Amino acid sequence: MKLGFLGTGTIASAVVQGIAADGHAITVSRRSEARSAALAEAFAAVTVADNQGVLDAAEVVFLGLMAETAPGILQGLQFRAGQKVVSFMAGLPLEALAPLVAPAEAVAIMLPFPGIAQGGSPVLALGGDDLLRGIFGRTNTVFALGSAAELNAYLCAQAVLSPAVLMVATAADWMERQGVDRVGAEGFLRTLVGSSLISGPCRPMLAALDTPGGYNQRLRRHMEQAGMEPALTEGLDRLQG
Ligand SMILES: NC(=O)c1ccc[n+]([C@@H]2O[C@H](COP(=O)([O-])OP(=O)(O)OC[C@H]3O[C@@H](n4cnc5c(N)ncnc54)[C@H](OP(=O)(O)O)[C@@H]3O)[C@@H](O)[C@H]2O)c1
Repeated sequence: MKLGFLGTGTIASAVVQGIAADGHAITVSRRSEARSAALAEAFAAVTVADNQGVLDAAEVVFLGLMAETAPGILQGLQFRAGQKVVSFMAGLPLEALAPLVAPAEAVAIMLPFPGIAQGGSPVLALGGDDLLRGIFGRTNTVFALGSAAELNAYLCAQAVLSPAVLMVATAADWMERQGVDRVGAEGFLRTLVGSSLISGPCRPMLAALDTPGGYNQRLRRHMEQAGMEPALTEGLDRLQG
């Protein structure tokens, strides 16, 4: 497909890297020149153009702009009928985006994560899930969402990643203080936690890890007594605002 990217920042660059070898013709906008030039240098499928050039070349346009400045940028550009627009901006609802890109169709808000550059990453999609599965589903998992409220819940809950990573880092720090090589310790923990989480649902896994008096049960109970669950739930409530 002919894909265009307006805004070649952190996340758009990661998305382009993830699909650059998939047979698409990709045009990226010039801004963030170091990034756009590096993508064109690295991948034969990628060319650089000014903003209108991106639109003129693309069947599907991805918006990797900031929600606050996007309306001003989009208003000066000419979209065309039949073109589909996918926005990475959770902060600009589809209803507000639609008139800014008409006569093109604002089909989706897509929230990718930086791991999309390597594949194996989740992709959140409010709208356009068939289109997005076709483009990204070969190596990534597209989660189709039903409403803006659901998108907001996912947006809040995805932030569990940082505390989860902090727990693993803290356990690796603890191992290092026991004289264990830090690189091996963290590598072991990342492999353990990552492979376990991907292997199946959480509640059955917790039951399987609940051997009476076992290490997992004892540490989990210690963390529960320390207030981990209500603290996390309260944090999520606060994110939701
Ligand atoms: N980072 C993530 O993990 C992530 C994940 C999901 C969704 N998002 C969303 O994706 C959007 C982009 O985030 P980001 O982290 O990639 O931010 P970013 O790195 O700051 O990217 C924004 C891009 O917009 C460009 N830009 C600004 N004005 C422009 C203009 N007039 N014409 C063309 N391009 C222009 C910037 O270029 P200059 O550098 O030249 O100013 C930059 O390349 C945000 O709405 C964010 O919420 C981000």
